[in-house]
Amino acid sequence: VEVHLGRDEVVQALRDDARAGLTASPRWMRPKWLYDERGSELFDRITRLPEYYPTRTERAILLERAGEIVRLTGADTLVELGSGTSEKTRILLEALDAAGLLRRFEALDVSEQTLRDAAFAILASHPGITVRAVVGDFERHLPLLAGHGVRLVVFLGGTIGNLLPDERALLLRGVRQILGARDAFLLGVDLVKDPAEIDAAYNDSQGLTAEFNLNLLLILNRELGADFDLAGFEHREVYDTVHEWVELSLVSRREQHVRVAALDLELDFAAGEAIYTEISARFRPQGITAELAAAGLRVVQMWTDSGGAFALTLAVPDDLSPGSA
Ligand SMILES: C[S@@+](CC[C@H](N)C(=O)[O-])C[C@H]1O[C@@H](n2cnc3c(N)ncnc32)[C@H](O)[C@@H]1O
Repeated sequence: VEVHLGRDEVVQALRDDARAGLTASPRWMRPKWLYDERGSELFDRITRLPEYYPTRTERAILLERAGEIVRLTGADTLVELGSGTSEKTRILLEALDAAGLLRRFEALDVSEQTLRDAAFAILASHPGITVRAVVGDFERHLPLLAGHGVRLVVFLGGTIGNLLPDERALLLRGVRQILGARDAFLLGVDLVKDPAEIDAAYNDSQGLTAEFNLNLLLILNRELGADFDLAGFEHREVYDTVHEWVELSLVSRREQHVRVAALDLELDFAAGEAIYTEISARFRPQGITAELAAAGLRVVQMWTDSGGAFALTLAVPDDLSPGSA
């Protein structure tokens, strides 16, 4: 386990973002701040909700295509970005192991405890391999993942959709830079679909997504000595059909004053005023291909589920196919 994001650094980055984001108009925070230990646990419970179709759909595609992915890549090392519990990743690990290829698993996530738990669980079920857990930020620490072997880098769960288009382009270029000639990249994204289905996934009947979103205020209270009253804010999800992304926000239920002691900040919220906490983009197949191409990655294969809800795309460095170098 390597920690490249020490506690002091995390708190400093949170302070910087909170100062910039909470005083901006409109107000915003980055989605990575939703994932403290409780946030990761809530997200894990969200993935099991009947309304939350992306996880089970992506799992179904992985189950169906794992053998093909192994044949196409011949990877001996699996590298995962934003790995969380790495639960679906186990499908690929098992398939690589069954083919006698698997030697190494590397996972990178900001959420330290969840990453540690996942890494140790994978080591326990695959005792013959090397497991490297990197506590870091995929927007800063990708170069730490460059290495040897034949590698398959995976970025699942539609997490890339939490980045803005410019940030996505930067991240994909970063991925391209850590890929060697024989390496491949597997990207999971949610596809454009009936907005009602998307809305339902973020407004679950158990209120877990609301709890996940509101958890940000608990983090700000704990880490920055803020005095957000959770009952004074509500979870809101809007699917923006122009940008084709979900916007999550926390909306002030009334006019209210909030103090962020560690930043010496006094914030006045109007009734109905929002803090934007996450975007989650939906994609079209031609858009995925174009964004990958712009980063120097060529699509080898794109798989979707029978309902066309989710896509897994396998890409390789341009002008090369897996295993050709
Ligand atoms: C939507 S969840 C997906 C989790 C898992 N990959 C899946 O498919 O279910 C996003 C994951 O990315 C992590 N994450 C978010 N922003 C990150 C960042 N900037 N750097 C590294 N990890 C990040 C979160 O901690 C969380 O585990």
